[in-house]
Amino acid sequence: MTLVKRINDAASYLQEQLKDKPKFGLILGSGLGVLADEIENPKSIPYNDIPHFPVSTVEGHAGELVCGQLKGKNVIAMKGRFHYYEGYTMEEVTFPVRVMKALGIETIIVTNAAGGVNRNFEPGDLMIIEDHINFAFDNPLMGKNDDSLGLRFTDMSNAYDKNLIKVAEEVAEEMRIIIRKGVYTYFTGPTYETPAEIKMVEFLGGDAVGMSTASEVMAAVHGGQKVLGISCISNMAAGILPQPLSHDEVIETTQRVKSQFTAYIKGILERI
Ligand code: HPA
Repeated sequence: MTLVKRINDAASYLQEQLKDKPKFGLILGSGLGVLADEIENPKSIPYNDIPHFPVSTVEGHAGELVCGQLKGKNVIAMKGRFHYYEGYTMEEVTFPVRVMKALGIETIIVTNAAGGVNRNFEPGDLMIIEDHINFAFDNPLMGKNDDSLGLRFTDMSNAYDKNLIKVAEEVAEEMRIIIRKGVYTYFTGPTYETPAEIKMVEFLGGDAVGMSTASEVMAAVHGGQKVLGISCISNMAAGILPQPLSHDEVIETTQRVKSQFTAYIKGILERI
């Protein structure tokens, strides 16, 4: 079955389930799923119920779409995403973005937890993603291009929408949230990077590193969607501080900033 047919099947199933047409898509990163809990009139749809959705591998939290309203805006949120390091193909990782597009969503907000490379950053900072470097050396647009989804050669010069960045900066200022801006560098993981790799990223102009997001953004831009990316700097990247890295630190930091993070994203939604 073609990719387009699978996308349309999944979108038709969701349309049957949903009363309101979602306008904004949210992809919630590690520890940032709490935003979905604030959605009003929520309707949750487990990934495993959606035709052709990749089957969740993570035990405990299978992953679901949550639809409803945030600040009066109709949203559909991915609570849990598919990572390349879990063994999914790039096509599987980006399938939900394609389905969002088929539902008529033209703007997506992508979030993640990321390691801070820029030495001015601190764990707990929020960073607007201005651009990315794809160090995964794979690309969801590889293979035969379906012209109904997007162009063969996709321009990535404005992958992260300038107007959305401006709004995000203004909202941060109004809310007195210190906001960073920078370049997100995508590594596949699941190992954290080595200190030598982080030195390289620093040298090449990356400000943060993470194991998600860029693939979804490439598919979104291919489909003509506008993207806003927000990273939560959950730890300093390898080699910057003497202590070792751990997933516990990532989760601890996202827990610490979750109320600021949720308020911020809601503040942005109010304005777009
Ligand atoms: N590296 C890669 N991914 C991450 C990190 C990191 O330091 N922190 C959170 N996600």
